[in-house]
Order: sequence, then structure tokens, then C-alpha cells
Amino acid sequence: MSVNRRDFLKTSLQTSLLASAVLTGCVPVTRMQQNGEYDYTLSVEPADLEIRPDTVTPGLGFNGEYPHAPLKAKQGKPITIRVVNKLQQPTTIHWHGIRIDIKMDGVPFLSQKPIMPGETFIYHFTPPDAGTFWFHPHVNSVEQLGKGLVGLLIVEESDSDTFSPNEFAADLPLMLKNWHLNKDGSFKPLTTPRNAARMGTPGNYATVNGINKPIIDVPAEGWLRLRFANVDNTLVYKLRIKDYPAYIISIDANPLAEPKRLDNYSIGAGMRVDIAIKTPAAGEEILIENGKGKRSYRELLRLKTVSRPLNQPAAEAPPLPPLNPLSEPDLANATVKRFTFEWEGAVTPADSNGKSMPRFWAINRIPWTGMSADNIPAPLATLELGKTYIFDLKNATPHRHPIHIHGVMFKVIRSNQKKIDPFFTDTVLMERNEQVQIAFVADNPGRWMYHCHVIEHMKTGLMGYITIA
Ligand code: C2O
Ligand code: CU
Ligand code: CU
Repeated sequence: MSVNRRDFLKTSLQTSLLASAVLTGCVPVTRMQQNGEYDYTLSVEPADLEIRPDTVTPGLGFNGEYPHAPLKAKQGKPITIRVVNKLQQPTTIHWHGIRIDIKMDGVPFLSQKPIMPGETFIYHFTPPDAGTFWFHPHVNSVEQLGKGLVGLLIVEESDSDTFSPNEFAADLPLMLKNWHLNKDGSFKPLTTPRNAARMGTPGNYATVNGINKPIIDVPAEGWLRLRFANVDNTLVYKLRIKDYPAYIISIDANPLAEPKRLDNYSIGAGMRVDIAIKTPAAGEEILIENGKGKRSYRELLRLKTVSRPLNQPAAEAPPLPPLNPLSEPDLANATVKRFTFEWEGAVTPADSNGKSMPRFWAINRIPWTGMSADNIPAPLATLELGKTYIFDLKNATPHRHPIHIHGVMFKVIRSNQKKIDPFFTDTVLMERNEQVQIAFVADNPGRWMYHCHVIEHMKTGLMGYITIA
């Protein structure tokens, strides 16, 4: 184990900050109002970050920080976030996975005007679902997300008689991101055309909550809720916990009806998975690994058990949060729409300024690059409010794509490559040449982005939107 004392201190400090943020709601810059309502100010600004020990990275940060403590909200209660743009470029904030009012969805031109330098925009919404969500700009995303503007939004379950978040001895948000860093902390290129046309440009410096291979103190002999969030621009993380019983309890914020034993589980860019794990006695270490290729795994982080939890002995089975209030798709009366994700490399047109923009990818042969007021194409589909739709998605490329739709949660019902236990999600990882069917009730009116969450794929054509009206 190669963690020096300095790293260890940084780890425990940030861990306790993150843990206390979730456990007590005592987040700096937060006012928790009466009735569980939260109120935040987020300044989006340039920030000197220390990602590699003893170096300075000229990044971007919420309130100048990476990681920023997770924002916390309560299911069914309003939350207000004042976003102040202190960058030299426009921005917006998108609340990934929240079934939100279109006006608060944070997509420039489609749902709001960009927040210009010096301006403030107030996001105000009431999350209908509980779970692990995240937020990020939807402007100049390769740079803004790649340099640090990614954060977590944890929505706690509304009060109920059948479940309390305190059934977990601890609740640990784990933000996964590989940074593109030279040895001295300066940035390597976040994108190259060559990589954008393939799997995307991978970062080289792996972090969990901003730290390489952290060791995080956790309570012994209790159930932990590990909230993994892949906030990376590019990578798929394949999670494995070998020596202790671990269960998948939620996928992209949606609890499963039954916990599923974790073998290994892949989350693409933008995706989350909540894992419950029962910790051993104090003084043990739990290794959590990330798979590379077919069979090899590398250390991602370790959990170190340090004390007994205060509550009663842990139950045999993991605590199960209640299901989110999602409409069940009416498959018998569904309308099917087909979408093919394809290579589109033959097209390299110039934009209206005569600049050429690489276009490598397309949905149903339509690539969309460059968002501006005068560059909004027709929707990829127009759906009737209240009806059920099945989207038949076909990945006709030799690369993986985490496909995401804003404004709704959809149910993954079928794949041509594996057996599916249907589950609700907001992003589905499509394997090479995979064909997947998803179904959902079009119950949220608006113009909703529909794109690959590999940011370079999105930026070079793999994006569009659907209209629900
Ligand atoms: Cu995280 Cu358009 O999405
Ligand atoms: Cu989103
Ligand atoms: Cu993609």
C-alpha cells in the first residue's frame, strides 16, 4: 500500500466532509430551511486544484473546489441553487437524472438561455425521485466537465415507516474521474480528433473523490451504502469487490425490487450504481477494483473498517430503499421508434462561420454538432404526452456508448446480447453492436436531450433531442 501520510490526511479530511455532508446535511455554503428544503449557492469559477499531490492544476471548480461536497435534497421538497457564472465563457447546469421541469433542465437554447459571464441563474425544482444524481454544465462540455465542473446531488428518501436512511451505518458518495494530467499537474489534451472518432480520450490519473487510490475509513460491522458515480468524460469503470458480500441496490438512482449480488458491474460515463456492503470487524480492509480489459483488475480504492456502528447489529439482508414513483410502461399499447447509432466519419462540413467541425457520429443518420440559437435541428422523435414508447436502439459501431435521455427514467427491457432483468435507468451502456429495447411513459413535456455521454461522441454528432408534447 503506497499512501503517504499527507495523502492519508487529505483522504480522511475529505471523506469526513463528504460523509458528514450526507449524514448530517451540514454542508458548507448550505442553508437547510424548515421542512427539509435546501438552499445553495454555487459559484462556477476557475480554481487552482491539487489533484496530483504537491502540484497545481489550473482547473475549474464549484466554489473553487474539487470535489465539491455533494448537494443534498429531499425527495418531494423544493431545492434552490443559485448558480453564479465567474468563468469567461457561458455555462449552464444540468441536473442529470432528475425528472425536472424543462425550464430547469440546463440545456442552452433548448431549455434556457446560456448563463453569460457575470450572470446568475436560479435553479429551483422539487425532485420526485430519491437516489444518487449528479450535475454538470451543458456548454463547452469537454473542457468544463473535463477540468472539474462535476458534482453529486444526493436526494434522500422522503420519510416513511418502512425505510430510514439510517438503516445504513454510513453513506459514502464515490465520484469516479480520470484526470488528463501531466506530472506537473498541467492538463494534457482533453480531446483529440483521433480519439473522438474512437472510444474517446481517456484520462491517465484515476481519482475517487479527487484522490488517487484513497483509503477511506468506514464503520465496522454494518451495512454501507456506496454511491458510485461515473462523472468521467469518457471511461467505463468495471467495479468489483471480491472478498465481502456486496449487492447492487440502485441503478442510476432507481432502487431495484430485489438486491442483486455484485459480481462485477460496468458503469459508463454519466451512470451511477449504489452498492450495499456489509463490513467486517474493525481493522480490516476492503479492496474495490476497476477492471481493465477482460480479466485484469486494478485497485480503485480501499475501505478501512475503524469502529463499530452505534446502531444495533446489522441485518442479514441489505436495507432496501423504496421504489421511485415511476409510471409503468404499458407495453401492450406501446409505439415503437427505431434509432441507429452510427459512424458518420465521411461528413466533415464547415459550420456557418466556415470553421470545420469534426462529425464522426450520427443518430438515424443525423449528426448534430454545435449548439446555438440558430442551430436547433428537428427533434429525432415527437412523442405524445402520456403514451408509452419503446425505443429500439441499435449500436452499429464497434465502440461502447452510454446513451442518456433527459427528463424521463426509462426501463431497459431487452438486449440481443444478454438476459435482462428489466430495470429503470436514465443512461444505458450499449456494448459494441448491441441492440437494446427501452420503454417509458412520455409523461414529462419538453424538448429533452438524447445523447451519448462520452462527451467527445456527443460533441462530434452523437446527440439529438426528443419532443414530448
Ligand atoms: Cu449528464 Cu445531457 O447529460
Ligand atoms: Cu442528463
Ligand atoms: Cu458514444
